[in-house]
Amino acid sequence: MPPRVAIVTGAARGLGQEFAVALAGGGHAVAGFDIADQSATRARIEEAGGRFLAVPVDVTDEASVRAAVKIVADTFSAVHIVVNNAGIYPPMAFEDTTLDDWHRILRLNLDGPFLVTRAALPHLRKAGWGRVVNIVSAVVFLGPPELVAYTTSKAGLVGFTRALATAVGADGITVNAIAPGLTATETATATTGADGGFDRVRALQAVPRTERPEDLVSTLLYVCDEGSGFLTGQTINVDGGSARH
Ligand SMILES: NC(=O)c1ccc[n+]([C@@H]2O[C@H](COP(=O)([O-])OP(=O)(O)OC[C@H]3O[C@@H](n4cnc5c(N)ncnc54)[C@H](O)[C@@H]3O)[C@@H](O)[C@H]2O)c1
Repeated sequence: MPPRVAIVTGAARGLGQEFAVALAGGGHAVAGFDIADQSATRARIEEAGGRFLAVPVDVTDEASVRAAVKIVADTFSAVHIVVNNAGIYPPMAFEDTTLDDWHRILRLNLDGPFLVTRAALPHLRKAGWGRVVNIVSAVVFLGPPELVAYTTSKAGLVGFTRALATAVGADGITVNAIAPGLTATETATATTGADGGFDRVRALQAVPRTERPEDLVSTLLYVCDEGSGFLTGQTINVDGGSARH
């Protein structure tokens, strides 16, 4: 696979850091979009001899996203891969969900991918080759009660994946979604995985161990591969078999 230029949102930690490190390890230039400090990601990539550009940006802010994509294109002369990974998944009872909670979750999980993808798309079109990868969740198949707003946002992102795949398929651009199960990132460990959350999810899985960020890497690289140009509009569930669909 020739080196490509990738944007990974939420690259400071968790799954986004793992995706950025994996793409850089594959020889690609990677730009991380995050509101948090990305020095840990930079250190891992540069130690391995990879190229990483940390762009401080709130992916829900339209003007900042446009400026951030321009920085990437100016620095690396192209953009080919967009991994829409930044997201929040705060557990809450449906009855306690305020309109502000609802908007906060939809804003990051849906407006973010919309804004970043729309700003990057002219560059993918210009290259005549592109990969958009949306990180959704196995909750779209499982529907857990404490994540109604979150599940709604990720189901929206599945719809975005399908329709956008149709819109850009003739331009050599694929759009797919990857659905992780509950994965042991710091955030998940402090929230959905706490109080026996990992044990409950593990009991649903065919593979009886807790999912780790590195379990998602081979699927990301497969979707981004040069040979995967006929794979589009799909949601690939990587959750140890808790949802079988
Ligand atoms: N960890 C899991 O169990 C799990 C399971 C299924 C799906 N997912 C999805 O995977 C993605 C990553 O999850 P994670 O556990 O690694 O999360 P995380 O909290 O570890 O990382 C999220 C990153 O997004 C960044 N971010 C937050 N708001 C932002 C904004 N406005 N602009 C730019 N960056 C912003 C954060 O600073 C952080 O670096 C999310 O979309 C999540 O919904 C996670």
